[in-house]
Amino acid sequence: STSGPLLFGVPLKYVSLIVLTVQNSMLVLVMHYSRIVSDVRYFTSTAVLLSELTKLFVCLYLCARESKAESGRLNMRQVYTDVFGGDSWKMLIPAGLYTIQNNLQYVAVSLLDAATFQVTYQLKILTTALCSVLLLSTSLGTMRWVSLCALTLGIILVQLPASPSAGTVVSGGASSKLMGLVSVLTACMLSGLAGVYFEKVLKGSRKSVWTRNVQLSLFSLPPALFGVLVVDGAGVSSLGFFSGYTRWTIAAISLQAFGGLLVAVVVKYADNILKGFATSISIVLSCLVSVWLFDFHITKPFVLGTGLVVYATYMYGKYSSPSPPAKAASALP
Ligand code: C5P
Repeated sequence: STSGPLLFGVPLKYVSLIVLTVQNSMLVLVMHYSRIVSDVRYFTSTAVLLSELTKLFVCLYLCARESKAESGRLNMRQVYTDVFGGDSWKMLIPAGLYTIQNNLQYVAVSLLDAATFQVTYQLKILTTALCSVLLLSTSLGTMRWVSLCALTLGIILVQLPASPSAGTVVSGGASSKLMGLVSVLTACMLSGLAGVYFEKVLKGSRKSVWTRNVQLSLFSLPPALFGVLVVDGAGVSSLGFFSGYTRWTIAAISLQAFGGLLVAVVVKYADNILKGFATSISIVLSCLVSVWLFDFHITKPFVLGTGLVVYATYMYGKYSSPSPPAKAASALP
């Protein structure tokens, strides 16, 4: 199959998928912990804004490096026309959707325990597949749909045993739990839609993934700022932008920004559906690690779920064409 660029002799496609699995396992734990570690809760909208700013600067740097590699000198004019020229407006849509998703993720992770959040958030595998079929006209066929459903069921089973005794008690009653569930389900739909939309724009033009991500972060700033000023405005102006920040907040922001960049690379070299497999396997692995780190007990649903995840991954690979050519998407509406 086409291997693409290598890192230490390993195709970047696999490196990015593996690193994503590790990042993903850490993000939920750190994010959840950052919400409960201190009595003073930080404003999550400020964390979303800082994460977008971080990605913006990193991607601008990568764009500048790319332009230097192409033309032999640093050409910021070129970067500017790449970012603002042509079809840059197309990134307005995923930028808006992702900003809402990122804010909802913090809401959900504050209202639900980490395990419940992780379980429900896995439904994004199916929303992503549905959006790929609808927007990218990917045809999955029965067997690949079956493997995606098996993957979703498997990953839910893997996480079930952890939920009731998941250590951290989340304050609030049934209504805040319901609100957490509504948030996470909405985030699933936004994740599928925004991810596939980004993939369609990225693969339908020759602009680099870093140019696309500069656009994405830049266009995310106004809605992210709206969150800070309007949603958390009163609190931020009386208590301050960084009120309640701890080193765990900084860790959550950094991990989220790093994860966003990884998602971009994974979508470039693989696709959004394979991303779902990577994150599922990461969850299984992180549970296995907690067996010897935290005395986590292996239960029957865990074994069954792991079997399903492994089998689904094998089946999906088996029923995928040997080397699917990167589909050049047609123009967007
Ligand atoms: O959960 P999911 O995989 O949908 O999360 C995607 C995350 O990656 C979001 O936080 C989004 O802001 C980020 N992202 C990004 N650049 C992309 C695609 C996604 O920063 N090209």
